[in-house]
Amino acid sequence: MSDSTFYVTTPIYYVNDAPHIGHGYTTVMGDIITRWHRQRGENVWYLTGTDEHGQKVLRKAEENGVSPQDWVDKLVEDEWRPMLATIDVANDDFIRTTEQRHIDGSKAFWTALYERDAVYKGNFEGHYSVSAEEFVSEEDVAEGEGDDEGFKVSKLDGSRVELVAEENYFFRLSDYQQKLLDLYESQPDFIQPESARNEVISFVSRGLRDLSISRSTFDWGIEVPWDDKHVMYVWIEALLNYATAVGYGTDPERFAKVWPADIHLVGKDIARFHAVIWPAMLMAAGEPVPHRVFAHGWLLVGGQKMSKSKANGIRPDELVDTFGSDAYRYYFARALTFGSDGSISWEDINARYHAELANGFGNLASRVAAMIGKYFDGVLPATGAVTVPEQMVIDVVAKAVAEADAAIEAIAPHDALNAIWRIVDELNGYLTEQAPWKVAKDDPDSDRLATILVTAAEGLRVLAVLLNPVMPMSSAALWDSLGAEPSLGALDAQRIDDVATWGQLPAGTTITKPPSLFPRIEAPAE
Ligand code: ME8
Ligand code: MG
Repeated sequence: MSDSTFYVTTPIYYVNDAPHIGHGYTTVMGDIITRWHRQRGENVWYLTGTDEHGQKVLRKAEENGVSPQDWVDKLVEDEWRPMLATIDVANDDFIRTTEQRHIDGSKAFWTALYERDAVYKGNFEGHYSVSAEEFVSEEDVAEGEGDDEGFKVSKLDGSRVELVAEENYFFRLSDYQQKLLDLYESQPDFIQPESARNEVISFVSRGLRDLSISRSTFDWGIEVPWDDKHVMYVWIEALLNYATAVGYGTDPERFAKVWPADIHLVGKDIARFHAVIWPAMLMAAGEPVPHRVFAHGWLLVGGQKMSKSKANGIRPDELVDTFGSDAYRYYFARALTFGSDGSISWEDINARYHAELANGFGNLASRVAAMIGKYFDGVLPATGAVTVPEQMVIDVVAKAVAEADAAIEAIAPHDALNAIWRIVDELNGYLTEQAPWKVAKDDPDSDRLATILVTAAEGLRVLAVLLNPVMPMSSAALWDSLGAEPSLGALDAQRIDDVATWGQLPAGTTITKPPSLFPRIEAPAE
C-alpha cells in the first residue's frame, strides 16, 4: 500500500444557525464512505468544519446583540461539534475559518494569486445575496413577489438581493473557460453525478466573467494581505479551507502529501462554486485540482428543500433520540439515492426501522446466537460438509461484497446497502429453508445442525464487518456477540478484501446473545 492519503471533505457549514439533517446528510455520507475506505486499509483523512465569516453570520450576530466572534464560538461549541457526536461521525479534523492556520494559509494563497497576476483592483456595482453569500448577475435578478414584493430576488435560489457598489479585487475567472472545459473533458468524473456535470459544462460554455473576490464595506473576514481596507469575499476564503486544513501555507510537506483532495462532497446548491471557481483558483495558484466533486441532491420535507431560512429544518437529535444514531445513518444511506433529491418522513424511517433493522437484521443476529446457545451451549461447533445451500450463501456473500465495494468507489452508498442487504435476505431465507430447529428434533446426530449454524454465524461475521461503516454501534455489539475479537482481532481492523473468505470464526468460539440491536419503538407520530 502506498502512503498516499484518501482525502474526503464535506462543505464547511455556515454558523448563522444550528445544524439540521441536511447538514447531517452530507456529513454522514462522507463518514460512511471514509469508514469503508479505512476498512480497505487505506490511509484516510476526513475533514469537516464551519464557515464563520461573511455578512450572513455577521448580521445574525448583530441581530442577537453579540460580537460575531462570540456568536460563532458559542454556536460551534454548543451545536456544530455536538452534532458530530450525535450522528457518530469519525472525522479526522474539524476546521473553523476563524482559526489561525486558516487565516495564515488563506493569506498565503492570496499572495500566490497576486504574484501570479490573477487578481486586479476594480469597482463592483451589482446585486448580492447575503443569504447565498453570492454576487448575482443582472440576468439572474427578478422582481420579488408575495412576501418579497418590493424587493429584488435571485432567480438562482429565490433569496433577496441588495445593491452593492464598492471597490473590490477581481479574480481573472474569464481566463479559465477553456481550461475548465478541458478539465471536464480530460477528467470526466471531476464533477458528478451526470446531471451536475451537464449543468456545470453548460454554465461554463456560456462564458465566464471575472469574479469579485473581496469586500470593503464591512470587516468580518480575513484581511487581504496587501490591502487592509479589504476582506476576502467569504466564498473564496471558504473554499480555501480544503487546502489550509492540510497545511497549505503553513506546512508544505503535509500539503504535498495529502493534496489534492479525492472527493469534495457537496450539495448541488454549491456545485458551481466547487466545480468552476475552485479549480480555476487552484490552476491560477499553480496547484493541482481535486479528483472528484460529488454534488448530492436535496432532502425534501413536504416537497420543499429543507433549509435554515425556511424554518422547516429538523435537527438530527430529533430523529436520533428516538431511533438511535445507527438507524439514522442507515436510513439516510438506504432510503435515498445519493445524487438525487429525496423525500424523507417520520413514517418512512419508522417503517424501515422495524421491517429492515429490527425484523430483518436484528432478529437474524439474535436468533442465530440463541440457537447456538440452545443447541451447542454457546460454543461454535465445527462445520460439517458444505452442501449446495451453503455454497449458495457463500456465493451470494462474495458477489455482494464485490458489488458493495464497487458501489462505494462509485460514491453510491445506497447501492452498497442494497448489495449488503441481499446477504441479510439470503441468510433469513437459508434459515427458513434449512429449519435448524427441525433438524435438531429430527436428526440430532448428524452434523447438519452444526453446518447450518456455522454458516449463519459466518454470514453474521461478514455483516458485522460490512455494516460497521454504516452502523458502528450495532456492528460492534454483533462482533462482541460473535466472540470474534480474540481470534480475528478488532472489528475496525477487518478488511473488506478479506471479509468474504469463508470459515474465519474458529470452532470453539464463544457466542453470546447480543443485546436487542433494534428494540421495537412505540414511536409517537411526529
Ligand atoms: O453553503 N438537503 O453552507 P450551508 C441536502 N458555507 N443537503 C443539504 C440541505 C438539504 N435540504 N441543506 C443543506 C454553505 N445541505 C457554505 C459552504 S464550502 C467551502 C462552503 C447541506 O450551511 C449540503 O451539503 O448553506 C449543502 O451543500 C450544505 O449543507 C450547505 O450548507
Ligand atoms: Mg446554503
